[in-house]
Amino acid sequence: MNQKHTRQLLGSLLVGTFVLGACGSGDDTGSSDTGAADITSTPDVTSTPDAADTTDPIATTATPEAGSDSTDAGGTITVYTGRHYGIEPVFEQFTADTGIEVRFTTGNDPELRERLIAEGVNTPADVVMTADAANIELSADAGILASVDSDILTETIPEDLRSENNDWFSLSQRARVIISSTERVENPPTTYAGVGDPEWQGKLCLRPSTHPYTQSLVASLIIAEGEARATEIVQSWVDNDPLYINSDTDIYNAVAEGECDIAIANTYYLGRLLTENPDFPVEIVWPEQDGRGAHINVSTAAVTANAPNPEGALALIEWLATDGQQQFADANFEYPADPNVEPNEIVVGFGEFSADLAAVRQLGANQPAAVGVLSATGYE
Ligand SMILES: [Fe+2]
Repeated sequence: MNQKHTRQLLGSLLVGTFVLGACGSGDDTGSSDTGAADITSTPDVTSTPDAADTTDPIATTATPEAGSDSTDAGGTITVYTGRHYGIEPVFEQFTADTGIEVRFTTGNDPELRERLIAEGVNTPADVVMTADAANIELSADAGILASVDSDILTETIPEDLRSENNDWFSLSQRARVIISSTERVENPPTTYAGVGDPEWQGKLCLRPSTHPYTQSLVASLIIAEGEARATEIVQSWVDNDPLYINSDTDIYNAVAEGECDIAIANTYYLGRLLTENPDFPVEIVWPEQDGRGAHINVSTAAVTANAPNPEGALALIEWLATDGQQQFADANFEYPADPNVEPNEIVVGFGEFSADLAAVRQLGANQPAAVGVLSATGYE
């Protein structure tokens, strides 16, 4: 192969972090949430591929030569993950507990799915992880996930948070809520429809329509209210002339700095911001508390259909659902999928709320309709 490809292959054989592409529509790195700054390659990585390289499919013959210097009984697994914030120490703990080495590649969910499809039976990936329920369901539809039979997973992960045929499992919950300035707003909206009240004209920030978080939120509106009513709601948001910002962190900062008064965003970003500044002047408003509950999306994991090491893959997912559950959720201030595991104390401080868990498994099926609603309403 050419030099570029060889260099990438070398990179892929090391245990480390490589950010795939620009992550513009990815999970934890919105356009500028953390950017490429979370490339935390292990010290011996001297050939970290640049972003352009990493969009190429990796060599189909990338069999794990790395095994020669990681000869423990556990072997090695390869993970493609769209949910990357704080993931490296979690994988390190898994390796410490099980002896199984983890190699991982990060990217946004659609990008990693396309890569898995392109690689087909030659994929090196054993596990795929996403930051969005619809995207893992679309992977299931594409035939690139394996159904697994695991009592550990079916007993630990609530039924609403795993696919019907057990080809994907949620590992944590991510609530997408209304956020509001603590300095300028006295009565924030308490429903997603309320965000479209004319009172918020010119005072609203939203994530663009191309982002999976937006598409899944609108899918949840369709599931709860029907497509016609969901279209009315989204139209009312658009009519409020929102400022579109493709980064939840930037959305929080826009509310703090007065560019908008209210917005819709994921709660875990506030966890990060409060860690840096306990007085950050933005609060969470739990929506739909008299009805279905706040929109919940999930971080998921699945064994790939062509996994070279399916046993190792399942071991990782079972570990993440059990021994590693708290660490996985806490790494990104998310809510654990296992209701018996306590969230991080900052997250507990966001208060109790009711959650729209019933929609989670239907987000994928409603994603095309959501894209249609966003397009029809002129949502940018
Ligand atoms: Fe995110």
